[in-house]
Amino acid sequence: MPNKNLALLTYGCQMNEYDSEKIGGILQGEGYQLTDNLEEAQLILVNTCCIREKAEQKFYSQLGRLAGLKKKNPSLAIGVGGCIAQREGKRIFERAPQVDLVFGTQNISRLPELLRQLRQGKGKVADVAQVKGEFVSPHIRRESTVKAWVTIMQGCNNFCSFCVVPYTRGPERSVPGEMILDEIRGLARQGYKEVTLLGQNVNAYGKDLVDEGAFPGLLSRVDDLDGIERIRFTTSHPKDLSEELMGAMARLAKVCEHIHLPVQAGSDSVLDRMNRRYTAGEYRAKIARLRALLPSIGISTDVIVGFPGESQEDYARTRELIEEVEYDSLFLFKYSARPETVAATLSDQVPEEVKQERFEEILALQKGITLRKNQELEGKRVEVLVEGASKKDPAKLTGRTRTHKIVNFRGPEGLVGHLVELEVIQGKLYSLEGRLALKEPR
Ligand code: SAH
Ligand code: SF4
Ligand code: F3S
Repeated sequence: MPNKNLALLTYGCQMNEYDSEKIGGILQGEGYQLTDNLEEAQLILVNTCCIREKAEQKFYSQLGRLAGLKKKNPSLAIGVGGCIAQREGKRIFERAPQVDLVFGTQNISRLPELLRQLRQGKGKVADVAQVKGEFVSPHIRRESTVKAWVTIMQGCNNFCSFCVVPYTRGPERSVPGEMILDEIRGLARQGYKEVTLLGQNVNAYGKDLVDEGAFPGLLSRVDDLDGIERIRFTTSHPKDLSEELMGAMARLAKVCEHIHLPVQAGSDSVLDRMNRRYTAGEYRAKIARLRALLPSIGISTDVIVGFPGESQEDYARTRELIEEVEYDSLFLFKYSARPETVAATLSDQVPEEVKQERFEEILALQKGITLRKNQELEGKRVEVLVEGASKKDPAKLTGRTRTHKIVNFRGPEGLVGHLVELEVIQGKLYSLEGRLALKEPR
């Protein structure tokens, strides 16, 4: 009998990481064992991302390496899921004949059936059908025992002109509130302390459901559940960040003081051509309101440099906005033209050297801001949910503050899964160093 070793390779955003937890859980239920060693796998599944061209190139060069493994082990099966699979469907077989199975972003629960078809030896198998209402899977193999992701909506209707997600994840579908609460109650029973509610645009939650209230209502229902100590959510679209939601963040004790609020650019004409549907002024006003309600809030963002037609002036507006807002952290991207998107058809594409220059400048600017803000925390006390041993230094424990900053510190392993109070002893660029301030964990 052939072994059932499964290697699962995951790229892209939290959506994909969460989908991989579902894939791992479902296939474990089918008798597969997860392995990190590609050489001993009988099945390799790649969960792909195509948000930028580089991600896609990486995938195709990796497929080359997988073809080599298949030469050595002809019974190896290779499957491709995620966003490239959703977009390309069966075309992947033409480009990469070593691939046996293609499954889309909404067909994960059909994997056992698709694998059975594959084993029956009738040739290659593909399913990228858009399925309405495929939400929860009973088996999820979660990476952490302390914090968990919970999908509250799938897809996106925003069609930002640069973005492929609406094409790879389909239209917005909200998960019914009771299903979400059931999943979180189950997590609480298993001892999870933190949940992150996931969606491409969580602020639009519930708009497509008849009986469901809006996102602030959902947050308050989650806040009422016993056992869960911290609630996060991502991603928020600035245009849908309502006064009501900001009020709920301030009011609900378990909702952490952190928001990821992608601004993308600081110039109104660029924002308009990106189809973001807010101005830089409106964005600034929301940041000011958040800080008035929650003075210690951690704010992170995404910025794209080199969007088509971004002039030196436009770029200067982005830089000003970053200097003014002083983000705690910033994810910076060079614009990458994606097939099917409107922005890819715009003339006036920005040359690579200019993108690179702007990229390096903003990176340096933000490094200064992040480091300064982290150093300002030295001597302060922070609450940290202990997640486990630090990857970099296994002698230390690691966790995050409510504002989403990583803190590493020395302490007994028994603290994993508990909230502890730490004193920050050093602010660094990507993390803080702390020491236990109180003996008793909560
Ligand atoms: N739904 C989320 C995440 C989208 S993808 C949101 O709306 O924020 C994460 C980030 O990737 C985006 O915020 C954007 O900054 C970046 N991104 C998306 N498409 C891109 C492209 N074509 N080129 C460069 N960066 C891109
Ligand atoms: Fe993409 Fe915009 Fe939707 Fe985010 S909101 S997933 S950037 S289209
Ligand atoms: Fe990538 Fe798909 Fe996420 S394109 S960023 S994995 S939604």
